Amino acid sequence: MKFPTVRPRRLRTNKIIRDAVAETALDPSDFIYPIFVKEGPGREAIPTMPGQHRWPVGEELIKHVEEALALGVNKFILFGVVPEEQKDPHGSRGYDPEGPVPKALRLLKETFGDKILLFADVCLCEYTDHGHCGVVKTTGGRWHIDNDETIKLYAKEALVYADAGADFVAPSGMMDGQVAEIRKALDAHGFHHVGIMAYSAKYASAFYGPFRTAAASAPKFGDRRTYQMDPRNAHEALKEVAMDLEEGADIVMVKPALAYLDVIRLVKQHYPWAPLAAYNVSGEYAMVKAAAAAGYIDERVVTLEILTAIKRAGADLILTYHAPEAAKWLKDGTPF
Ligand code: PBG
Repeated sequence: MKFPTVRPRRLRTNKIIRDAVAETALDPSDFIYPIFVKEGPGREAIPTMPGQHRWPVGEELIKHVEEALALGVNKFILFGVVPEEQKDPHGSRGYDPEGPVPKALRLLKETFGDKILLFADVCLCEYTDHGHCGVVKTTGGRWHIDNDETIKLYAKEALVYADAGADFVAPSGMMDGQVAEIRKALDAHGFHHVGIMAYSAKYASAFYGPFRTAAASAPKFGDRRTYQMDPRNAHEALKEVAMDLEEGADIVMVKPALAYLDVIRLVKQHYPWAPLAAYNVSGEYAMVKAAAAAGYIDERVVTLEILTAIKRAGADLILTYHAPEAAKWLKDGTPF
C-alpha cells in the first residue's frame, strides 16, 4: 500500500463517509446503568460521583428509571446501601428479603415488567461491619477471608434476589467457586431462567474509591488484594474467565475498563462466543466529571470517546454511570 495511489484521508473527508466506514457503533442498548438504592425516604446526592444519587425505593426511583428508559437505557444493575448500625460481620442485610435491593427489584419488576432487564450485584462489602466482601476469620492474630463460607452466603443472597425478580445476578466478590455455588443454588430452587453475569476479571483497583464512598463499603482494615486480581496480570484474566464459564457464567466481565482495555481485548479474542461486559467504574466517571467541571475537557466528546474505546476493545456491554447522559448525547449522533 503506497502513497500517492493510496490516500487514507479520502475516507475521512466528511462525516458521512467517516460514519460509513466506522468499525465501531456505540448504542444505548450497550449500556447497563448502575443504581444505588437505600433505606428510608429522600434521595441523597453522592459527593464523590457528581450527578449520581442514592435512591429510596419508591416514586423517585421509578421516575429515574422511566427517564433512562425513555432515552433507550433498559438495563440496570442495583447496589444496596444500608446504615452503619444495620451492618454485621456476616452482612446479613445483604440476604434479607426486606433489604433495599430485593425491595427495589420487586417494585421495578411490578412497574416495568419485561421493558427492563434487572441485574443485582451480589456481594457482602456493602453489608458487613468490617467492609470486606466475605466472612473474616482470625487465626493466630491474623485475619483471612473464609472463601467457602463466603460463597454459601453469596448463594443465599443470589436466591433472595432471584426470588425478588432479578433477571441476572452478578457476583462481584472474587471468591473462588462463587459462580458454581450460585448456579447450583439457583438450579436447586427452580431459578434455571435466572442468569449470572460474573465479575470474572475484577482487579484490586484504586479506581473504585468513589464507589466505596457512595456505598460506604471501604474495608475498615487491610485491603482486597487477597481476592481481587493484581493489576500487573493480564493472562491470569483468561484463567478466571475460563473457570467462570465452566462454572456456568452467562456473561463475563472485566473491571475496571479504561485502564484494562488490553484485558478486554485479550478475553474477547480468546472467548469470542462469550458475551463480555466491561465496568466503566466510579473513578473513571469521577475523573471525567472533575476535569469537565474544571473546564479542562469536553465531557460529551471525552465520554463518548471512552465508551467507544471500551466497545472497540471488545466489550459487548458497558456498565457506566454515564448511561443516561451518553444515551442523550448519542441522539445528536457521534461527535467523531
Ligand atoms: C462490590 C463492588 C465494588 C464495585 C462494584 N461492586 C467495589 C469494590 O470492589 O470495592 C466498584 C464499582 C465502581 O467503582 O464503580 N464488591
